[in-house]
Amino acid sequence: MTDRARQPLLLVGAGGLARETAQAVYAADSHRLLGFTDDNPARWGCVLDGLPVLGGTEVIASMPDAVVVLCPGSGAVRARLAARLAAGGIGAERFATVVHPGVHVPPSCTVGHGSILLGGIAMTTAVTIGNHVAVMPNSVLTHDDVVEDFATICASVSLAGGVRVGAGAYVGAGALVRENLSVGPWSTVGMGTVVLADVPAAEVWVGNPGRFLRGAEPATSVGNSTVRTDH
Ligand SMILES: CC(C)(COP(=O)(O)OP(=O)(O)OC[C@H]1O[C@@H](n2cnc3c(N)ncnc32)[C@H](O)[C@@H]1OP(=O)(O)O)[C@@H](O)C(=O)NCCC(=O)NCCS
Repeated sequence: MTDRARQPLLLVGAGGLARETAQAVYAADSHRLLGFTDDNPARWGCVLDGLPVLGGTEVIASMPDAVVVLCPGSGAVRARLAARLAAGGIGAERFATVVHPGVHVPPSCTVGHGSILLGGIAMTTAVTIGNHVAVMPNSVLTHDDVVEDFATICASVSLAGGVRVGAGAYVGAGALVRENLSVGPWSTVGMGTVVLADVPAAEVWVGNPGRFLRGAEPATSVGNSTVRTDH
C-alpha cells in the first residue's frame, strides 16, 4: 500500500506491547506508523525498534489525522487512558484496530476498536472481542467466546467454547478455561492456570485446578493518577 493510502498511526505507551503492536502493523502494512507517545518524559526522544517516542499523550490532540491504539499491557491502564482521552474529546472514531496478517478473523467474529491481535491467534466462529482488548500470540478463542472491553489475553491461552472474559480481566500465559465458564471483570488468572469454575469479579486465581489466591484491584480503584505504560 502507498504511504498516501495508509492512515497515520500513533501507539500510546512505549512498552513491550506497543513494540509488539508496531511489528504487527509493519507485517500487515495497514497503517503508516508515526511513533509512540508515553507519559514518562524520560522516554521522549528515544528511538525504540526504529520508531521515535514523540512526547506525551498531548501529541494525540496535536495530530488529529492520526488514529491511535492504546498499548499498555494492563487493561486498567488502557481503561484509564481511554477515559482521559474521551474527556478531551478523543473517542471511538480515533482508535484503530491492529490485526496481525497471520490471524484470520472469520466473518462470524467481531473485533472492537482499539484492540490488538498479535500473531498466531486462532478464532473459530462467533467470537466477540470488545474494545481495547489485547490478545497475545498463539491464543485460541473458540465458538461463542466473548472477551469484553479492556481485557488482556496473554500468549497461548485457550478458551473453550462459550467462555466470557469480563471487562479488564487478565488471563495469564498458557491458561486454560473450560467451556461456558466466566472470568469476572478485573480478575486475574495466573499463567498456566486451569480454570474449572467461574472466577468471580476482582479476584486472582492460580493453579490446577484454579483456586482463589487473593483479591484484585477492582475497576473502581484504578483511576489514580499513576499511569504505568511500561508493561
Ligand atoms: C498470578 C500472579 C498475578 C500472582 O502474582 P503475585 O500476586 O505477585 O503472587 P506471588 O508471586 O507473590 O505468588 C503468591 C503465591 O502464588 C503462587 N503463584 C503465583 N503465580 C502462580 C501461578 N501462575 N500458578 C500457580 N501458583 C502461582 C506462588 O508460588 C506463591 O505461592 P506461595 O505463597 O505458596 O509461595 C502472577 O504470578 C501471574 O501468573 N501473572 C501472569 C504472568 C503472565 O502470564 N505474563 C504473561 C505476559 S504476556
